[in-house]
Amino acid sequence: MRLLGIETSCDDTATAVVEDGRSVRSSVSTNQDAFHAKYGGIVPEIASRQHVALLSAAVEDALDRAGTSLEAIDGIAVTRGPGLIGSLVVGVAAAKALAFATEKPLYGVNHLHGHIFAAFLDRDERPEYPFLALLVSGGHSQLVDVESPTRMRIVGRTKDDAAGEAYDKTARMLGLGFPGGPALDKLSRDGDPEAIAFPRHRPEPGSLDMSFSGLKTSVRYYLESPAGAAATKADVAASFQAAVIDVLMHRVRAAFEQRPYTSVVLSGGVAANSALQAALREWSERSGVRAFIPPPKYCTDNAAMIAAAADYQNEAVRVDPLQLSADPNLPFTL
Ligand code: KG4
Ligand code: ZN
Repeated sequence: MRLLGIETSCDDTATAVVEDGRSVRSSVSTNQDAFHAKYGGIVPEIASRQHVALLSAAVEDALDRAGTSLEAIDGIAVTRGPGLIGSLVVGVAAAKALAFATEKPLYGVNHLHGHIFAAFLDRDERPEYPFLALLVSGGHSQLVDVESPTRMRIVGRTKDDAAGEAYDKTARMLGLGFPGGPALDKLSRDGDPEAIAFPRHRPEPGSLDMSFSGLKTSVRYYLESPAGAAATKADVAASFQAAVIDVLMHRVRAAFEQRPYTSVVLSGGVAANSALQAALREWSERSGVRAFIPPPKYCTDNAAMIAAAADYQNEAVRVDPLQLSADPNLPFTL
């Protein structure tokens, strides 16, 4: 099955053509960072306007690069939620119109399910069900028990900030601009992860939940202290990052104690983090678990993962073009 994917849940205008949930024929993403950077975060109204301006050309671009046409695709997959309502509506409206006009099947995909299926793109091996997925992005941090493409359960989640949000806020305190995750990741390479002992959240026994707001506050107090004024930014960045990774890896290990999975998937924007990838790879090799970490272009928001999810979930997410509506609070469970 060859699907056109459309993703506009946040600030990336993304389109793609994917075959059989795996072979990416094209994946186009127009990053809007330049329009949001001066505000220090994503401005929803600007994001929706940019989607309106960019989406038609992005659809044509994805089809052209894949050497195909609307007539030759088998269906259209679109992110229906969760996300920013104004942004979602642009993608959903476009997908409905295309599906209605071409009489092709339409699939309404959960953005977070998309992140999980990013692990299936452009590779021969697949995670073995049931597997554990660690989804870490700017809006979400959760552990998902994936029983099958349509049976997934959140088994652990952040009680406050998402990991990416903590990265972005800490990066801002360090004057690294927006989005801060990649800059903080880079700066950390020059720092000592053990220079400052920032706190690590530990959950109640049996719980896989996490928290990052205490860590963020602790970085702020530290920077305001005399020791903080003397510390290098690289040491603060590396020590903050070590604390985040320690919390995430602690929960992954705890999840594997609760259920003996054989595969783990890491996805979402923060999955592009080099130190987190290294920590997960090192642990998985030591414990005989197969780790699936998509390349950065598929870790961050993209439309190929949406087309892949639609392929695997198929009838479970097939929708009537006249009925589909965007849902900013779309529940996780199908
Ligand atoms: O999945 P994504 O593209 O959008 C959301 O759905 O949120 O994730 C964006 C988040 C941002 O918070 C960004 O700072 C973070 O992912 N991020 C990183 C890295 N690359 C992106 N965080 C840490 N290290 C990175 N290399
Ligand atoms: Zn995302």
